[in-house]
Amino acid sequence: MILHPTGRFGNAPADNREIEVRPLAAAMGAEIVGVQLTSLSDAQFAEVRAALFRHKMIYFRSQDVSHAEQERFSLRFGPFAPDAYTKGVEGHPDVQPVIREADERPGVIFGSGWHTDSPFLPEPPAISMLYGVEIPPWGGDTMWANSALAYSTLSDTMKTLLAPLRVRMSMRTVLETAQMHQAPDDTPIGRVAATRGQAQLPAEIARKLEGAGHPLVRTHPVTREEALYCDQTYAAGIDGLTSEEASPLLQFLVRHITQPAFTCRLRWEAGTFALWDNRLCVHQAFNDTDGFRRELYRTTVAGEVPA
Ligand code: SIN
Repeated sequence: MILHPTGRFGNAPADNREIEVRPLAAAMGAEIVGVQLTSLSDAQFAEVRAALFRHKMIYFRSQDVSHAEQERFSLRFGPFAPDAYTKGVEGHPDVQPVIREADERPGVIFGSGWHTDSPFLPEPPAISMLYGVEIPPWGGDTMWANSALAYSTLSDTMKTLLAPLRVRMSMRTVLETAQMHQAPDDTPIGRVAATRGQAQLPAEIARKLEGAGHPLVRTHPVTREEALYCDQTYAAGIDGLTSEEASPLLQFLVRHITQPAFTCRLRWEAGTFALWDNRLCVHQAFNDTDGFRRELYRTTVAGEVPA
């Protein structure tokens, strides 16, 4: 039985002066209303940035954003992060297509399974953003879970136990699943699948397999909020523990973070623009859009060495 914590769901909006913020769920998420993100003043942008850190995921409806405008908006948060999977669209290497055709039947869907973006890198991306262009009439939602709220609800004893631990983040599960279930092609997961049968993995993939060790509890560099840094897709072990020791703990933490009460779910529309802070939440997409095209564009903002 999961006991939902009382008095900890702090998703109320701040006292904003420049923007209107409408929370989505009790746990996290908020809509920013009445502005075009391509023409935010500095004062509006400052409140949008603060709202992102407060609500973990924010979104705007009815936006009209070109690739160049998405690049400019993204750069207001910081430089682009290196992307682990895609090469970007022509002329915009930092704008990554997230497209599934109506008749595509991928074995593995990009972004499925709860995850934080590219944590197997030494400096994982801080912020990710997605702009929806073509959206199925139903299906294709994205879910997020608040890993800071999840951390705050752990017992003090569990917090003490986790404090010194470092989680090993690796691309291993994605690689193995892609090699087993996905045909090699020019999609992000198809390129990983293309390594099947290769005697030696390309150096870049081998590095992502080796991955990186990060604090299991990380502190947000701006707000100092603490959050669990752990997910279903990439958390492969805990440094210094055997896999028999680490697995039950990681499984418990993933179940704890992603319990329904700590989540929110976004129904996309064409023109919806969402961004989230990978340091404070995990997210997942679903393989539930058979028969419909789904087209979004993603940019990511460089992060820091997690601490
Ligand atoms: C992602 O994980 O960045 C993709 C999410 C989505 O396609 O909804």
